[in-house]
Amino acid sequence: MHSTRPKVLVTRKLPTVVEDRLRLTYAVTLNTTDQAMSKAELSVAMSNFDALVSTVSDPLDASVLKVGERQVQLIANVGVGYNNIDTKTAGDEGITVSNTPDVLTDATADIALLLILSVTRRAYAAERKLREGRWEGFSLIDGLGRSMQGKVIGIIGMGRIGQATARRALFALGMKVVFYNRSPITKLDFEATQVDTIDQIMASADVVSVHVPGSRSSPTVTAKHIALLKPTAYLINTARGDSIDQAALVAALVENRIAGAGLDVYLDEPVVPNELRILDNVTLLPHVGSATEEVRTAMGMVAADNLDAFFSNTSLPNRVV
Ligand code: DGY
Repeated sequence: MHSTRPKVLVTRKLPTVVEDRLRLTYAVTLNTTDQAMSKAELSVAMSNFDALVSTVSDPLDASVLKVGERQVQLIANVGVGYNNIDTKTAGDEGITVSNTPDVLTDATADIALLLILSVTRRAYAAERKLREGRWEGFSLIDGLGRSMQGKVIGIIGMGRIGQATARRALFALGMKVVFYNRSPITKLDFEATQVDTIDQIMASADVVSVHVPGSRSSPTVTAKHIALLKPTAYLINTARGDSIDQAALVAALVENRIAGAGLDVYLDEPVVPNELRILDNVTLLPHVGSATEEVRTAMGMVAADNLDAFFSNTSLPNRVV
């Protein structure tokens, strides 16, 4: 460990127990307001701290990372995703980056399941009707959704969260699982069929659930893919807004070319297109995939483990770069 305590900036509020742990070891600066930091503030921080504990709301792009007198050596991102960080530039600049995988797998898959059920059973429209006093009593024909038993879920990206979502769809909903993954997956402890292209998933699945990292330059799920969805299909995204072509999805929904969508992530958070917000056949959550007390605490603790490993010169449990 450093002879003096390393200076650490925590960019957003964390559960108190995590902040208390960090205080024990580090000269820590906390964000008491929990307001997202601007690029200008983050740039200044690059010259004044040894490490940042950052998260998805911190745009750590090249303009922020490349400062003249840089002091930051480690960015311990709180999140499994790290598309807020230009990891290429970080690597080139010799900045180490870590993330917090595993601890949020089940929570995020739970939210995918919630979105699947919500959109296929039209929960949002039904609840709104009730809350607005428009419910006229039980009906045998109003507000009918679709049963998922025996239907096909297409998973795009069969990593940890993709697999956890597939298991829920299979065992809780009785769906059949097909999946696309960049590399072959030969060992799964449940029944699922791998296909070679995203096109095959889009053209055949009743629900498509996206579990691939974001990429601003080229979304994995393109407009061409979205155009292949069946008119009765639903798209679920708990990954990143830029994992899919958001404009193409919005157009497909507005033009009624697909049955609905369940979204937890958006291209320019916290901006959610107005066209989406007025639709009844979408469930829109504000990026809460990992938002449980237990999981956010665990994520903070994993980030702290990464800091501790880095400053005691041992290998990082979750090194990205
Ligand atoms: C994650 O861990 O990537 C969550 O989406 C929060 O950023």
